[in-house]
Amino acid sequence: MKKLFIPVILGTSRPGRQSEKVANLIVKTSKEIPNIVTSLIDPLDFHFPYDGNDSENKDPRYTEITDKADGFIIVTPEYNHSFPGTLKRMLDSELKNYIHKPVAIAGVSNGIFGGARAIENLLPTLREMGMIASFSDLYFPEVQNLFDENGNILDTSYVRRIKRTLDELTWLATTLNWGKENIPNIYHKIEK
Ligand SMILES: Cc1cc2nc3c(=O)[nH]c(=O)nc-3n(C[C@H](O)[C@H](O)[C@H](O)COP(=O)(O)O)c2cc1C
Repeated sequence: MKKLFIPVILGTSRPGRQSEKVANLIVKTSKEIPNIVTSLIDPLDFHFPYDGNDSENKDPRYTEITDKADGFIIVTPEYNHSFPGTLKRMLDSELKNYIHKPVAIAGVSNGIFGGARAIENLLPTLREMGMIASFSDLYFPEVQNLFDENGNILDTSYVRRIKRTLDELTWLATTLNWGKENIPNIYHKIEK
């Protein structure tokens, strides 16, 4: 079976960001799944100087990654009950590369809600971009207590939940890829 490319998008550039630990855990867990290829998309490694999707705000490496991706995992902290502007600017830089690709969201907060409000506010944006959201979300509440000093997760039930989400995401990606290859649709060209 074809390997699926599922990059993990880290949604914040904040110095000291806790969400980076969550993103690293998801990347590490994804690498244990044989049919997934992944990489960390860190906004600090890319350049999105302006708003919008004109060429001035495109980073060619992000364009290539989103073009090739079979699906996405987005790690978003909750900032003022929503998701960070950095994530929005990064997502906005592309238009067609998300259409009919599955996405799962991991919310992160230092309070008890695990980024639930950021996830809820991100969903309409992702839908407008054409992404298909997974049924299962991932929540990382009180993130400051979840990892040891080496970045290892203390409660392994989080790894089990990540694997369950990856299982759903790979099913969605495989199903959507099959549909794109076999069922005519105005958004996809079938190449035979
Ligand atoms: C600008 C800003 C706004 C925040 N707003 C919220 C919020 O609305 N709800 C919440 O639970 N945590 C909020 N937090 C705290 C984050 O949950 C906390 O920083 C957590 O560690 C995840 O974000 P990080 O990856 O930036 O560390 C906020 C943090 C910042 C920097």
